[in-house]
Amino acid sequence: MSQSDGDREDRWLTASLARPLAPLSPDTPCGRVYEMMAQDESLFALAVVVDGAPIGLVDHLSMMSDFARQYWREIYARRPITHLMDGAPLTLEAAFPIEVISLQITLFKRRTLNSGFVVVREGRYVGVGSSLDLLKLVAERACDRAQSLEMAQQEIRALNEGLEHRIEQRTAELRAAQEELVRKERFSAIGQLTATVAHELRNPLSSIRNSVFTMREGSAVSSALERPIARIERSIARCDRIIGDLLDFTRLRERQAEIVTADDWLGEVLDEQPLPPGVSLVRRFGAAGYRLNLDRERMRQVIVNLIENAVQAMVNDAAAAGGGTIVVGTRVAAAYEMVIDDTGPGISPQVLPKVFEPLFTTKSFGTGLGLPTVKQIIEQHAGTIAIESELGRGTRVIVRLPLAPSREAAA
Ligand SMILES: Nc1ncnc2c1ncn2[C@@H]1O[C@H](COP(=O)(O)OP(=O)(O)OP(=O)(O)O)[C@@H](O)[C@H]1O
Ligand SMILES: [Mg+2]
Repeated sequence: MSQSDGDREDRWLTASLARPLAPLSPDTPCGRVYEMMAQDESLFALAVVVDGAPIGLVDHLSMMSDFARQYWREIYARRPITHLMDGAPLTLEAAFPIEVISLQITLFKRRTLNSGFVVVREGRYVGVGSSLDLLKLVAERACDRAQSLEMAQQEIRALNEGLEHRIEQRTAELRAAQEELVRKERFSAIGQLTATVAHELRNPLSSIRNSVFTMREGSAVSSALERPIARIERSIARCDRIIGDLLDFTRLRERQAEIVTADDWLGEVLDEQPLPPGVSLVRRFGAAGYRLNLDRERMRQVIVNLIENAVQAMVNDAAAAGGGTIVVGTRVAAAYEMVIDDTGPGISPQVLPKVFEPLFTTKSFGTGLGLPTVKQIIEQHAGTIAIESELGRGTRVIVRLPLAPSREAAA
């Protein structure tokens, strides 16, 4: 910041720190000056000036204390003021910056603090200044500056924190995007492979099915072969289902979105779900009237898979004697939240991180595509899924889906 001397001068001259008080001539009697000062408190000091050049300063304090003494009053009343003046007061150039002036005041004789100083411009009298007022102003400015510095520092600190947070956020986003990219690439490779393998497998599979059919139709099947043939048929059906699941998982279908009333839709899906004896299902719905935008068929697959997992876990749990309870609860907390609890054996900490991996299964009859498909469909709906479980304490699956606008909002 560059300021001309003129600016600097104005800064403190106009701050009424230098008052252009009418100077005294050297022959003004002391008694007259005493009267002037007694009448006007603001006359803290008066300069004595000859031909525009200051020759000294008479200040309020010494005037009042010295002159007020009876003895001096009589002696000095008619004497010229030069008898009481300070002949070597602090004289300062108006053009000096205020910082220089304040420094001079503090370095000059102590008396300057009470008596003030004479202001000159190129040696010519301009006015008198009050040291105390000036120092007060400098102190206030320093205080203001310190405050704005502190504020600026706080702002910088806040900005820094925000920046760090944003960097962290961006890094996390980038990492997620990269992982997503890798996942998609792997996915498309798996998809192509699956499509080929599925096609190649389905042909021999259908010829096996046809052959078994022919064997059954022909009279050659003896009762001894009845069971093995039934087993072959079941295995064919299972292979076919696995191929179907794989194709379903790897084929990213466009979703057919439609608005449904969430709890009503969920109730209907659960109504259609067959449950084995010993397993009961309790509904704790608490999101009446809230709506979702979803692909009914795909999302039905999600519910079916999750309920099937719960049922299979409980039915195969020796400790539970093949039974248990599934509780399906819903509520709205920013999103539509669906919680499925079962009383099955739970999932061990070693298994839990793997349950969303394609083809991971702990079941002799499982494909390990249930949860990966579920996750895929939920993510297609911009939702999330989380599983909490502990061995011996059952499993909780939490699905969150974004709400569709309410009927009123949509209208
Ligand atoms: N409710 C649950 N209780 C206990 N374990 C579970 C539960 N849900 C899933 N799991 C575990 O997660 C694994 C993966 O589940 P996922 O549904 O993906 O495959 P799967 O059920 O084994 O086979 P698929 O669903 O393809 O027939 C299961 O094998 C099981 O170990
Ligand atoms: Mg499953």
